[in-house]
Amino acid sequence: MNILILGSGGREHAFAWKIAQSPLCSQLFVAAGNAGTAQIAQNVNLSLSDFEKIGSFCLKNNINLVLVGTETPLVEGIADYFQADANLSKIQFIGAVKAGARLEGSKDFSKDFMLKYGIPTAASRTFDHTNLAEGLAYIESQPTPIVLKADGLAAGKGVIITEDITEAKQLLIEMIEGAKFGSASAKVLIEQFLSGIELSVFVLTDGVSYLILPSAKDYKRIGEGDTGLNTGGMGAVSPVPFANQAFMYKIEQHIVKPTLKGLQSENIDYVGFIFIGIMNVDGEPYVIEYNVRMGDPETEVVIPRIKSDFLEILSLTAQKRLAEAKMEIDERTATTVMLVSGGYPEDFEKGKVMTGFEKIDSEVLAFHAGTVLKDGKILTAGGRVLALTSLADSLESALEKSYKAAQLISYEGKYYRNDIGKDLG
Ligand code: AMP
Ligand code: GLY
Repeated sequence: MNILILGSGGREHAFAWKIAQSPLCSQLFVAAGNAGTAQIAQNVNLSLSDFEKIGSFCLKNNINLVLVGTETPLVEGIADYFQADANLSKIQFIGAVKAGARLEGSKDFSKDFMLKYGIPTAASRTFDHTNLAEGLAYIESQPTPIVLKADGLAAGKGVIITEDITEAKQLLIEMIEGAKFGSASAKVLIEQFLSGIELSVFVLTDGVSYLILPSAKDYKRIGEGDTGLNTGGMGAVSPVPFANQAFMYKIEQHIVKPTLKGLQSENIDYVGFIFIGIMNVDGEPYVIEYNVRMGDPETEVVIPRIKSDFLEILSLTAQKRLAEAKMEIDERTATTVMLVSGGYPEDFEKGKVMTGFEKIDSEVLAFHAGTVLKDGKILTAGGRVLALTSLADSLESALEKSYKAAQLISYEGKYYRNDIGKDLG
């Protein structure tokens, strides 16, 4: 099969690494890809919002399966575009249709969806310019901390949590009237604060059958001890020790099944990943958010634990034959430590020469996030640069390997958190 993966982060490198190992894989393309995917696939320079160009690339290169890694093209309707074309609709496609992608694209939609289908989540109310005064009064009536969420996609920055009522009111005005996150914050949810530990649960579905992939925990803040600004994710661990069988059973019964049933009831034919961000509140799972893609850096620990042929599983999913798939999981623990650019998630410089790749243990998987190949050199090209994944029999030994590799890679401004997984030991 010829495969096209859309995206250019560590998640897409991990997908490419796994798919390239499948005997079913002939040619593998990644758009736009990075210096890591360039080593195992062919990078193609395609804009992810130019569906026409992506479509003609697929036809020209006899692509048999498209895997959409990132959410924006899904929210913009790439799956619908492929379905509507007589030739493109024959290509196996992993990625939600626009109606399904609203689970991530609109937090107001996903909140209504959860309430309608009895899925446990934080209580919340939505405000816009028509009832802003009501929103300000509502904030005053709420206990702190206050959680404000922009309705639309805001590049991971649309959630603000504050203890300060005055600041919360100011933020609500800035979001709605000042378009702090552009049109994404025209509507804002004010949500009950849930206190607990988070985990990420991933479901692959063909619309009817589903597989729950290994669970993972992500470390979102830039600073150690979960302090400082939110990032895309600074590291991850899989499995999550507290996500035992009993807890996962609750997630499956109270969250996964009702979510899939809800999608069916809404006549949304969902083929792809559902990433459910869950808060464990005293042993009870609550949905924090849905995403319509895999997590990054969670993918960098989830995919290496899947022993089965992942391309075969994806192909069966796209053919609505997921019920026939079997997934074997590596019992070992996977950890990943994300190296980032100095200054991230605020301003940072790119184009720093990276060295030391040859020094790291050959068992460590170096998944490239923001890198580019230029004149034979690997340069930094983003905030998150490189995810160093290790597998071992214990969390401690996996972390030791990831951290050893983290020390051996060099570039100006390198930063990483030293406490990934330390809260789980
Ligand atoms: P999101 O962009 O929806 O992933 O939210 C970013 C982060 O904000 C989440 O990963 C949580 O850590 C936090 N968060 C979101 N909603 C809540 C909530 N209702 N209670 C507590 N924390 C939350
Ligand atoms: N790591 C969190 C995310 O991918 O959104």
